[in-house]
Amino acid sequence: MWEKVQQTVKYIQDKINVAPQYGVILGSGLGSFADDITIEHAIPYSELPNFPVSTVEGHAGKLIFGTIGDKNVVAMQGRFHYYEGYSMQQVTFPVRVMKYLGVEKLIVSNASGGVNSFYKVGDVVLIYDHINMMPEHPLRGTNDGRFGPRFLNMSEPYSRAMIAKAKEIAVAKGIDVKDGIYLGLQGPTFETLSEYRMVKILGADCVGMSTVPEVIVARHMDIECFGISVITDMGDSDGVGSVSHDEVLAAANAAEPKVRLLIKELIAGD
Ligand code: HPA
Repeated sequence: MWEKVQQTVKYIQDKINVAPQYGVILGSGLGSFADDITIEHAIPYSELPNFPVSTVEGHAGKLIFGTIGDKNVVAMQGRFHYYEGYSMQQVTFPVRVMKYLGVEKLIVSNASGGVNSFYKVGDVVLIYDHINMMPEHPLRGTNDGRFGPRFLNMSEPYSRAMIAKAKEIAVAKGIDVKDGIYLGLQGPTFETLSEYRMVKILGADCVGMSTVPEVIVARHMDIECFGISVITDMGDSDGVGSVSHDEVLAAANAAEPKVRLLIKELIAGD
């Protein structure tokens, strides 16, 4: 793994001279954030050695390099999901690469189903914790101490400082944000009524199929993380039963300007 990561990093650095401080991973229907980046380079995943290739509809599959304000940024347009059949090592490989390109802060966005009855479709949720219910752990196996520790402290996976900053921005810009706990399941099915109820009983506010592996691996390498989720459907007795991928994309697209603005200001104003 170490050699593969360094090989990919070297390939990128030989091709383009970049040192991004910020990494951004864009979720379903949230990909137009790339328009906020002054793009200097875009490399399709297919060109990158050791990179998996993205397959999901709504994910373009390239690594974008550029600036937001005076900050250097690398953004993944299209991410890898466990349900696509990738191993957890493949899902999180790009985060490892980001670290050795220079990334110190990672911003991850996603679409999720809400189970908190104070939420509604279109809400923007700042993730302050997660519950990992995915069946495979990205850090399972021999630990390479060059990346990080064997037993990782997960008491603050999402940076309190970045959440506080995002809340200030939200107030200043008049954007309504909630905060909440994200529970990660493998998918690819949406949840049954009973599973949504389980998610709620387990103490989460929303549920999705991504983010958790990337954040674990980022924290393994001591990258500060910020997670933002758009509630695209409600897994409660009112909303459940109607969710489809198209609805998820439509709701994420509708909320996207708010997410874009928050992320942009979070980076530019740092
Ligand atoms: N469940 C799981 N993943 C999701 C959902 C959901 O309801 N909505 C968007 N991603």
